[in-house]
Amino acid sequence: MTEPPVVALHGVSFAYEDGPDVLDGLDFAVREGRALALLGRNGTGKTTLMRLLSGGLRPRAGRLTVEGEPVSYNRDGLTRLRTTVQLVVQDPDDQLFAASVAQDVSFGPLNLGLSDPEVRARVAEALAALDITALADRPTHLLSYGQRKRTAIAGAVAMRPRVLILDEPTAGLDPDGQERLLTTLDGLRAGGTTVVMATHDVDLALRWADDAALLTPAGVHTGPAATMLARTELLTQAGLRLPWGIAATGMLRAQGLLDETQSGPRTPEELAALTPRLATDG
Ligand SMILES: Nc1ncnc2c1ncn2[C@@H]1O[C@H](COP(=O)(O)OP(=O)(O)O)[C@@H](O)[C@H]1O
Ligand SMILES: [Mg+2]
Repeated sequence: MTEPPVVALHGVSFAYEDGPDVLDGLDFAVREGRALALLGRNGTGKTTLMRLLSGGLRPRAGRLTVEGEPVSYNRDGLTRLRTTVQLVVQDPDDQLFAASVAQDVSFGPLNLGLSDPEVRARVAEALAALDITALADRPTHLLSYGQRKRTAIAGAVAMRPRVLILDEPTAGLDPDGQERLLTTLDGLRAGGTTVVMATHDVDLALRWADDAALLTPAGVHTGPAATMLARTELLTQAGLRLPWGIAATGMLRAQGLLDETQSGPRTPEELAALTPRLATDG
């Protein structure tokens, strides 16, 4: 028997007030331990899907489950959900509100009714995980965009969720900020947190994700990232292009430089690492 997904939407439909259905009969599951990228063009409902998964929105039809159990949208049910799933919204300014970094990060744990020492321990742990310990007393309005983004993520991490959901976390970060974020996410994953991110960046998804979910107006398709991101027709429907690594893999195979048993490069570094072997094989 396979384990139920840690969190899942089953046959979920949702519309905003007076609006058309954004999602219709959607099935979507997050499997523990698998890095999952959610991809799709603007307006297809990535943010809506993530808000449904974290309980911020309630489905019009269908249900949300945690470990196969339906979530009840009452105080206890939502508290249980919040300690399982945490969403970091795209714009940190929609999330941060406290005067200082440490105060902001402590808000969630305080709301759980934890003791002061426990709250302090969680804040310290979350600030360290995001590499912003030195910013603890900094007023949030004086932070750079990247620092605000890290603070918002720390606030979610302080809840010690099993699933951390990030809505377009690399948007607005410079290349160095993006690399630092990926290193941070690797650290959280090594600590046992399942990470889900929405992104437009197919190259990032190929490199980072175990699984990719492609959201199209017709529904969502989930599977291993390297397989999903090679499905050109589906990518077109989702408004996405072919990732660089998949295109390079296709060319290498067409030239007989890579056989079907070898996995293709996902980054220029992986292509460079393949080159000596290609030289001796060829
Ligand atoms: N608060 C809202 N009220 C009404 N419509 C909304 C709201 N938020 C999003 N929408 C609409 O829902 C659809 C999906 O939006 P969204 O989930 O933000 O997509 P994505 O994150 O993929 O860009 C869009 O048509 C958008 O205009
Ligand atoms: Mg969005």
